[in-house]
Amino acid sequence: MTLKPTLTAAALAALVALAGNTQAQTPPLKVGLMLPATGTFAALGEAIEKGFKLYVEEQGGKLGGREIQYFKVDDESDPSKATDNVNKLIKRDQVDVIVGTVHSGVALAMARAAKESNTLLIVPNAGADAITGPLCAPNILRSSFSNWQPGYAMGVVAAQKGYKRAMTIYWNYAAGQESAKGFKEAFEKGGGTVIKDLTLPFPNVEFQPLLTEIAAQKPDAVFAFFAGAGAAKFVKDYDAAGLKRSIPLIGSGFLTDGVLEAQGASAQGMITTLHYADGIDTPRNNSFRSKYAVNYKNQPDVYAVQGFDAAQTLAAGLVAVKGDTSKRDAMIAAIRKANIDSPRGKYTLSAAHNPVQDFYVREVKGRENVMTGVAVKVLADPARGCKM
Ligand code: PHB
Repeated sequence: MTLKPTLTAAALAALVALAGNTQAQTPPLKVGLMLPATGTFAALGEAIEKGFKLYVEEQGGKLGGREIQYFKVDDESDPSKATDNVNKLIKRDQVDVIVGTVHSGVALAMARAAKESNTLLIVPNAGADAITGPLCAPNILRSSFSNWQPGYAMGVVAAQKGYKRAMTIYWNYAAGQESAKGFKEAFEKGGGTVIKDLTLPFPNVEFQPLLTEIAAQKPDAVFAFFAGAGAAKFVKDYDAAGLKRSIPLIGSGFLTDGVLEAQGASAQGMITTLHYADGIDTPRNNSFRSKYAVNYKNQPDVYAVQGFDAAQTLAAGLVAVKGDTSKRDAMIAAIRKANIDSPRGKYTLSAAHNPVQDFYVREVKGRENVMTGVAVKVLADPARGCKM
């Protein structure tokens, strides 16, 4: 029996044309942005999104040859809504990658959902140690820091300054607890003692009773973790309580990043540690800062940098697979090998997918967190509990 050709030459030509057309129309990459658009961290979410989009724009609007389609969810920095919110992106919108978020409690729920569904997740801020610790996974990456890192760096600096008795003050959730723990680890290793931890629930800003206690205890220094609008108020209240003159207020740099306008004179001279500083004089940072200022009519901060680097992280993977996200292992392998050319300085990812990076000493001068030195070079999070 002979097989009859089932397609006429014309039909075949039409099919070939159609196939070519389909290839030209590779669908856009669906990027889910889960960030706070309201609440005390709203400005941080906005800076992350602007930074992310700036990098995409620099690449001509495409990453690895793919156009980008954004899906947005306001997470309100509310952990109780986090699982529902992240599922809007995973189940409803079926995004290819999620970028988020700021708040550690929200990010922990996102990491669990990403792990379960094997959705690619890039964390552009939230430092929850567990994300690159017990919850670590091949599909979860960070462009920011672990909470332990900046706290540890400040502990090193505080001990070098000769402080012996310190108090800590923070919002009582993962970010505050883990920053204070990192601080204590390095400070006590350097000969200091943390005499007391003062806490209040996130996002409360009733600092007065705690400031009264600091005044009574008279420590050599106070280490604080607050960020966004809460940090703006804390630094002003600390000054208004008359404490700035007598007891140095130190912290991870979130205390003064993106909020110097609001803090004004109350922040002047403050020393903090962070993986970014305004005055890093490199071509990469200078170009980033000027493009950001031109595009958005305001100055970038650490959050903008982390957003920019979240896009770079994604790009490193996408370029390696020419935009084919089905090649997930090859994407991750390329990201692991990448040397991310960040405005903060070049960095790589650890085996747990957390940045291994320098931590700077910064001093507030006018409206800038000016770099005055390096607290710890190439600091890697210990990644306790990560098995991957
Ligand atoms: C966090 O919740 O992990 C967090 C929030 C704001 C920051 C830093 C860390 O500035």
